Amino acid sequence: MQVIIFDDAQHVATHAAEWVAELLNKNPKPVLGLATGSTPISLYQQLVNKHQAGQLSFKNTTSFNLDEYLGIDASNAQSYRHFMNENLFDHVDIDISKTFLPTCAQGENPRTQGLKYEQQIKQAGGVDLQILGIGANGHIGFNEPTSSLASRTRIKTLTQQTLNDNSRLFDKNEFQPTLAMTMGIATILDARYVLLMATGESKAKAVKDMVAGPLSAICPASALQMHENAIVLLDKAAASQLEEQEYYQWAHDQNIMINQEFGLYHNY
Ligand code: F6R
Repeated sequence: MQVIIFDDAQHVATHAAEWVAELLNKNPKPVLGLATGSTPISLYQQLVNKHQAGQLSFKNTTSFNLDEYLGIDASNAQSYRHFMNENLFDHVDIDISKTFLPTCAQGENPRTQGLKYEQQIKQAGGVDLQILGIGANGHIGFNEPTSSLASRTRIKTLTQQTLNDNSRLFDKNEFQPTLAMTMGIATILDARYVLLMATGESKAKAVKDMVAGPLSAICPASALQMHENAIVLLDKAAASQLEEQEYYQWAHDQNIMINQEFGLYHNY
Protein backbone atom coordinates (compact mmCIF):
# COMPACT_ATOMS: atom_id res chain seq x y z
CA MET A 1 0.00 0.00 0.00
CA GLN A 2 1.41 3.35 -1.03
CA VAL A 3 0.31 6.20 1.24
CA ILE A 4 0.73 9.79 0.04
CA ILE A 5 -0.11 12.72 2.30
CA PHE A 6 -0.92 16.10 0.80
CA ASP A 7 -1.41 19.52 2.41
CA ASP A 8 -5.09 19.69 1.47
CA ALA A 9 -7.99 18.10 -0.35
CA GLN A 10 -7.32 20.05 -3.55
CA HIS A 11 -3.87 18.47 -3.91
CA VAL A 12 -5.38 15.03 -3.30
CA ALA A 13 -7.74 15.63 -6.22
CA THR A 14 -4.96 16.99 -8.44
CA HIS A 15 -2.85 13.88 -7.91
CA ALA A 16 -5.82 11.57 -8.50
CA ALA A 17 -6.58 13.45 -11.73
CA GLU A 18 -3.00 12.82 -12.90
CA TRP A 19 -3.51 9.09 -12.43
CA VAL A 20 -6.77 9.08 -14.36
CA ALA A 21 -5.26 11.24 -17.12
CA GLU A 22 -2.31 8.90 -17.48
CA LEU A 23 -4.60 5.88 -17.74
CA LEU A 24 -6.82 7.52 -20.35
CA ASN A 25 -3.91 8.87 -22.38
CA LYS A 26 -1.91 5.65 -22.39
CA ASN A 27 -4.53 2.92 -22.57
CA PRO A 28 -6.45 2.65 -25.86
CA LYS A 29 -9.46 1.03 -24.10
CA PRO A 30 -9.41 2.24 -20.50
CA VAL A 31 -11.84 0.85 -17.95
CA LEU A 32 -12.42 3.19 -15.00
CA GLY A 33 -14.07 2.28 -11.72
CA LEU A 34 -15.87 5.30 -10.28
CA ALA A 35 -17.20 6.42 -6.91
CA THR A 36 -19.78 8.95 -5.80
CA GLY A 37 -19.88 10.96 -2.57
CA SER A 38 -18.32 14.28 -1.59
CA THR A 39 -14.69 13.19 -1.85
CA PRO A 40 -14.33 12.64 -5.63
CA ILE A 41 -16.26 15.77 -6.67
CA SER A 42 -13.13 17.91 -7.04
CA LEU A 43 -11.41 15.08 -8.91
CA TYR A 44 -14.29 15.04 -11.42
CA GLN A 45 -14.12 18.84 -11.67
CA GLN A 46 -10.44 18.61 -12.55
CA LEU A 47 -11.11 15.91 -15.14
CA VAL A 48 -13.81 18.08 -16.72
CA ASN A 49 -11.36 21.00 -16.80
CA LYS A 50 -8.71 18.86 -18.47
CA HIS A 51 -11.25 17.69 -21.03
CA GLN A 52 -12.41 21.22 -21.75
CA ALA A 53 -8.79 22.32 -22.17
CA GLY A 54 -8.41 19.62 -24.85
CA GLN A 55 -6.01 17.55 -22.72
CA LEU A 56 -8.21 14.55 -22.03
CA SER A 57 -10.69 12.46 -23.95
CA PHE A 58 -13.07 9.86 -22.52
CA LYS A 59 -14.10 8.69 -26.00
CA ASN A 60 -12.81 5.14 -25.57
CA THR A 61 -13.45 4.82 -21.84
CA THR A 62 -15.81 2.33 -20.24
CA SER A 63 -16.81 3.02 -16.64
CA PHE A 64 -18.25 0.99 -13.80
CA ASN A 65 -19.55 2.67 -10.67
CA LEU A 66 -19.18 1.10 -7.26
CA ASP A 67 -22.77 1.32 -6.14
CA GLU A 68 -26.33 2.49 -6.66
CA TYR A 69 -29.36 2.75 -4.41
CA LEU A 70 -31.95 0.05 -4.81
CA GLY A 71 -35.19 0.83 -6.57
CA ILE A 72 -34.25 4.41 -7.46
CA ASP A 73 -34.23 5.20 -11.15
CA ALA A 74 -31.94 7.48 -13.11
CA SER A 75 -34.42 10.36 -13.14
CA ASN A 76 -34.29 10.56 -9.33
CA ALA A 77 -31.93 13.36 -8.24
CA GLN A 78 -30.65 11.10 -5.43
CA SER A 79 -29.56 8.34 -7.81
CA TYR A 80 -25.88 7.82 -8.33
CA ARG A 81 -26.56 7.83 -12.07
CA HIS A 82 -27.80 11.39 -11.66
CA PHE A 83 -24.72 12.27 -9.60
CA MET A 84 -22.37 10.89 -12.24
CA ASN A 85 -24.16 12.64 -15.09
CA GLU A 86 -24.07 15.93 -13.24
CA ASN A 87 -20.51 15.77 -12.00
CA LEU A 88 -18.77 14.07 -14.91
CA PHE A 89 -20.55 12.33 -17.77
CA ASP A 90 -22.55 15.34 -19.05
CA HIS A 91 -19.38 17.41 -19.36
CA VAL A 92 -17.01 15.04 -21.13
CA ASP A 93 -17.04 13.03 -24.38
CA ILE A 94 -17.74 9.64 -22.77
CA ASP A 95 -20.11 7.30 -24.63
CA ILE A 96 -22.96 7.15 -22.10
CA SER A 97 -23.88 3.62 -23.23
CA LYS A 98 -20.49 2.51 -21.89
CA THR A 99 -21.12 3.90 -18.39
CA PHE A 100 -22.44 1.27 -16.01
CA LEU A 101 -23.88 1.31 -12.50
CA PRO A 102 -25.04 -1.75 -10.53
CA THR A 103 -28.72 -1.01 -10.81
CA CYS A 104 -31.64 -3.01 -9.55
CA ALA A 105 -35.01 -1.56 -10.48
CA GLN A 106 -38.20 -2.44 -8.66
CA GLY A 107 -39.25 -5.97 -9.60
CA GLU A 108 -35.76 -7.01 -10.70
CA ASN A 109 -33.85 -9.73 -8.90
CA PRO A 110 -30.82 -8.26 -7.11
CA ARG A 111 -28.97 -11.59 -7.29
CA THR A 112 -29.34 -11.78 -11.07
CA GLN A 113 -28.43 -8.12 -11.38
CA GLY A 114 -25.29 -8.59 -9.30
CA LEU A 115 -24.17 -11.50 -11.41
CA LYS A 116 -24.85 -9.54 -14.58
CA TYR A 117 -22.71 -6.63 -13.35
CA GLU A 118 -19.80 -8.96 -12.61
CA GLN A 119 -20.09 -10.37 -16.14
CA GLN A 120 -20.21 -6.90 -17.69
CA ILE A 121 -17.00 -5.94 -15.87
CA LYS A 122 -15.33 -9.14 -17.10
CA GLN A 123 -16.49 -8.60 -20.66
CA ALA A 124 -14.99 -5.11 -20.62
CA GLY A 125 -11.64 -6.65 -19.66
CA GLY A 126 -11.72 -5.79 -15.95
CA VAL A 127 -11.28 -2.45 -14.20
CA ASP A 128 -7.90 -0.78 -14.82
CA LEU A 129 -8.18 1.89 -12.15
CA GLN A 130 -10.78 1.92 -9.38
CA ILE A 131 -11.45 5.25 -7.64
CA LEU A 132 -12.54 4.82 -4.02
CA GLY A 133 -13.62 6.93 -1.09
CA ILE A 134 -13.89 5.53 2.43
CA GLY A 135 -16.76 5.70 4.90
CA ALA A 136 -16.12 6.89 8.46
CA ASN A 137 -16.88 3.27 9.41
CA GLY A 138 -14.24 1.91 7.00
CA HIS A 139 -16.63 0.90 4.22
CA ILE A 140 -15.58 0.90 0.58
CA GLY A 141 -18.39 0.98 -1.94
CA PHE A 142 -21.30 0.02 0.30
CA ASN A 143 -19.41 -2.91 1.78
CA GLU A 144 -20.27 -2.20 5.36
CA PRO A 145 -18.30 -3.54 8.37
CA THR A 146 -18.45 -7.36 8.53
CA SER A 147 -18.93 -7.65 4.75
CA SER A 148 -17.27 -10.75 3.39
CA LEU A 149 -13.80 -10.02 2.06
CA ALA A 150 -14.70 -12.43 -0.77
CA SER A 151 -17.94 -10.62 -1.66
CA ARG A 152 -19.12 -9.85 -5.19
CA THR A 153 -21.69 -7.38 -6.52
CA ARG A 154 -24.83 -7.80 -4.45
CA ILE A 155 -27.56 -6.16 -2.44
CA LYS A 156 -26.49 -4.71 0.89
CA THR A 157 -28.29 -3.22 3.89
CA LEU A 158 -26.73 0.08 4.91
CA THR A 159 -25.66 0.61 8.51
CA GLN A 160 -27.20 3.27 10.71
CA GLN A 161 -23.90 5.15 10.68
CA THR A 162 -23.85 5.30 6.87
CA LEU A 163 -27.49 6.37 6.81
CA ASN A 164 -26.70 9.12 9.34
CA ASP A 165 -23.56 10.21 7.44
CA ASN A 166 -25.49 10.44 4.15
CA SER A 167 -28.66 11.98 5.56
CA ARG A 168 -27.12 15.42 4.93
CA LEU A 169 -27.77 14.81 1.23
CA PHE A 170 -31.51 14.21 1.67
CA ASP A 171 -34.26 16.72 2.41
CA LYS A 172 -36.08 16.25 5.71
CA ASN A 173 -39.12 14.48 4.27
CA GLU A 174 -37.33 12.82 1.37
CA PHE A 175 -37.17 9.03 1.12
CA GLN A 176 -33.65 7.77 1.98
CA PRO A 177 -33.03 4.24 0.73
CA THR A 178 -31.65 1.74 3.22
CA LEU A 179 -30.67 -0.83 0.59
CA ALA A 180 -28.12 -0.55 -2.18
CA MET A 181 -26.36 -2.60 -4.82
CA THR A 182 -22.59 -2.54 -4.44
CA MET A 183 -19.54 -4.08 -6.03
CA GLY A 184 -18.14 -6.59 -3.55
CA ILE A 185 -14.75 -6.42 -1.88
CA ALA A 186 -13.40 -9.16 -4.14
CA THR A 187 -14.73 -7.23 -7.14
CA ILE A 188 -12.83 -4.14 -6.00
CA LEU A 189 -9.67 -6.16 -5.36
CA ASP A 190 -9.80 -7.42 -8.97
CA ALA A 191 -9.07 -3.92 -10.29
CA ARG A 192 -5.49 -3.53 -11.58
CA TYR A 193 -5.01 -0.36 -9.54
CA VAL A 194 -7.05 1.10 -6.72
CA LEU A 195 -6.82 4.76 -5.81
CA LEU A 196 -8.46 5.59 -2.50
CA MET A 197 -8.98 9.24 -1.58
CA ALA A 198 -9.76 10.35 1.97
CA THR A 199 -10.02 13.88 3.27
CA GLY A 200 -11.02 15.42 6.58
CA GLU A 201 -10.70 14.55 10.23
CA SER A 202 -13.86 12.40 10.21
CA LYS A 203 -11.98 9.80 8.14
CA ALA A 204 -8.82 9.67 10.30
CA LYS A 205 -9.80 6.63 12.39
CA ALA A 206 -11.00 4.62 9.37
CA VAL A 207 -7.78 5.51 7.52
CA LYS A 208 -5.67 4.33 10.46
CA ASP A 209 -7.58 1.04 10.62
CA MET A 210 -7.27 0.57 6.85
CA VAL A 211 -3.53 1.27 6.64
CA ALA A 212 -2.17 0.05 9.95
CA GLY A 213 -4.88 -2.06 11.51
CA PRO A 214 -5.31 -5.81 11.17
CA LEU A 215 -6.86 -7.21 7.99
CA SER A 216 -10.42 -7.52 9.20
CA ALA A 217 -13.98 -7.50 7.88
CA ILE A 218 -14.79 -4.97 10.60
CA CYS A 219 -12.81 -2.45 8.53
CA PRO A 220 -13.63 -3.48 4.93
CA ALA A 221 -11.05 -1.03 3.53
CA SER A 222 -8.29 -3.02 5.29
CA ALA A 223 -8.77 -5.58 2.48
CA LEU A 224 -6.74 -3.17 0.34
CA GLN A 225 -3.68 -4.36 2.28
CA MET A 226 -3.99 -7.46 0.09
CA HIS A 227 -3.94 -5.46 -3.16
CA GLU A 228 -0.80 -5.33 -5.25
CA ASN A 229 -1.31 -1.74 -6.41
CA ALA A 230 -3.26 0.21 -3.79
CA ILE A 231 -2.54 3.93 -3.61
CA VAL A 232 -4.00 5.93 -0.73
CA LEU A 233 -4.19 9.71 -1.18
CA LEU A 234 -4.83 11.65 2.03
CA ASP A 235 -4.98 15.21 3.24
CA LYS A 236 -3.28 16.00 6.55
CA ALA A 237 -6.49 15.73 8.56
CA ALA A 238 -7.34 12.26 7.24
CA ALA A 239 -3.73 11.16 7.89
CA SER A 240 -3.62 12.63 11.39
CA GLN A 241 -3.81 9.27 13.25
CA LEU A 242 -1.08 7.57 11.16
CA GLU A 243 2.19 6.96 12.94
CA GLU A 244 4.56 6.33 10.02
CA GLN A 245 4.08 9.68 8.30
CA GLU A 246 7.80 10.45 7.85
CA TYR A 247 8.36 7.13 6.14
CA TYR A 248 5.41 7.67 3.77
CA GLN A 249 6.79 11.08 2.80
CA TRP A 250 10.26 9.70 2.21
CA ALA A 251 8.95 6.79 0.14
CA HIS A 252 6.83 9.20 -1.88
CA ASP A 253 9.89 11.33 -2.66
CA GLN A 254 11.68 8.24 -3.96
CA ASN A 255 8.64 7.26 -6.00
CA ILE A 256 8.51 10.65 -7.70
CA MET A 257 11.96 9.91 -9.17
CA ILE A 258 10.95 6.39 -10.17
CA ASN A 259 7.68 7.58 -11.73
CA GLN A 260 9.45 10.32 -13.68
CA GLU A 261 11.46 7.67 -15.44
CA PHE A 262 8.88 4.89 -15.78
CA GLY A 263 5.43 6.55 -15.45
CA LEU A 264 2.75 5.88 -12.87
CA TYR A 265 1.53 2.62 -14.41
CA HIS A 266 3.44 -0.43 -15.45
CA ASN A 267 1.09 -3.21 -16.50
CA TYR A 268 -1.12 -2.27 -19.40
C1 F6R B 1 -19.70 6.05 -3.00
C2 F6R B 1 -19.13 5.02 -2.14
C3 F6R B 1 -18.86 5.26 -0.70
C4 F6R B 1 -18.16 6.60 -0.42
C5 F6R B 1 -17.94 6.80 1.07
C6 F6R B 1 -17.36 8.16 1.37
O1 F6R B 1 -19.90 5.56 -4.31
O2 F6R B 1 -18.90 3.96 -2.61
O3 F6R B 1 -18.08 4.21 -0.19
O4 F6R B 1 -16.94 6.63 -1.09
O5 F6R B 1 -19.16 6.67 1.75
O6 F6R B 1 -18.29 9.15 1.04
P1 F6R B 1 -17.90 10.68 1.07
O7 F6R B 1 -16.90 10.90 -0.02
O8 F6R B 1 -19.19 11.40 0.79
O9 F6R B 1 -17.34 10.96 2.42
